[in-house]
Amino acid sequence: MELRPVYPVRTRRLSLRPLTSGDIDALLAYRSQPDVCRYVPFEPMDRQVIAERLAGQWALSALTDEGQALTLGVELTETGELVGDVVLFWHSREHRGGELGYVVNPAFGGHGYATEAARALLRLGFEELGLHRIIARIEERNEPSARVARRLGMRQEARLVRNEMFKGEWSTELDFAMLADEWPTHRAAQDR
Ligand SMILES: CC(C)(COP(=O)(O)OP(=O)(O)OC[C@H]1O[C@@H](n2cnc3c(N)ncnc32)[C@H](O)[C@@H]1OP(=O)(O)O)[C@@H](O)C(=O)NCCC(=O)NCCS
Repeated sequence: MELRPVYPVRTRRLSLRPLTSGDIDALLAYRSQPDVCRYVPFEPMDRQVIAERLAGQWALSALTDEGQALTLGVELTETGELVGDVVLFWHSREHRGGELGYVVNPAFGGHGYATEAARALLRLGFEELGLHRIIARIEERNEPSARVARRLGMRQEARLVRNEMFKGEWSTELDFAMLADEWPTHRAAQDR
């Protein structure tokens, strides 16, 4: 099992590709915003943190082993603007399990870009890496994120009540999932 995408990974409107140091300003524009970071595991980032991530965990352009995560920048193909980033975690080789994450600059929200980019990640995860199951873990109050998971066709399987101390308070987690054999039904939505 391995994932070595051919870049850019194209969808109808978007191009997904590894992040580079040329993306620092665009990343800073949204990853520094407290509202954007409210329900994600990271705190608002400054230029230095972003530069460190770019040199570290965001530098991967392929998944070669479990425990790795592939973070890709999401660019509008027409203009070349970076509108957000998405991540595919490969949790387990044995169980062929993975997880999705997505962040979009609020200035580019409400156009379906997160859904379109995340759908491309589902395709990479199921069709190229060979995952069996991909999940999304969402804080219950993060309704826009749950709507993305539902639009992708992911099934809500669990609601874990106040299961984690998250940024100083108990958070309730919604767990969404899709199985590889469910993917073909939802793949077609790519053309919307
Ligand atoms: C979660 C997040 C990515 C959702 O962003 P978003 O812009 O609402 O999601 P999309 O880009 O998929 O856009 C969907 C919206 O655009 C609308 N839309 C417009 N054109 C569309 C199209 N062609 N296709 C799909 N949706 C479209 C949809 O109706 C939807 O609006 P609605 O949710 O009010 O019904 C964003 O809120 C975010 O980055 N939050 C901070 C980070 C975060 O919490 N990430 C998730 C962690 S679990």
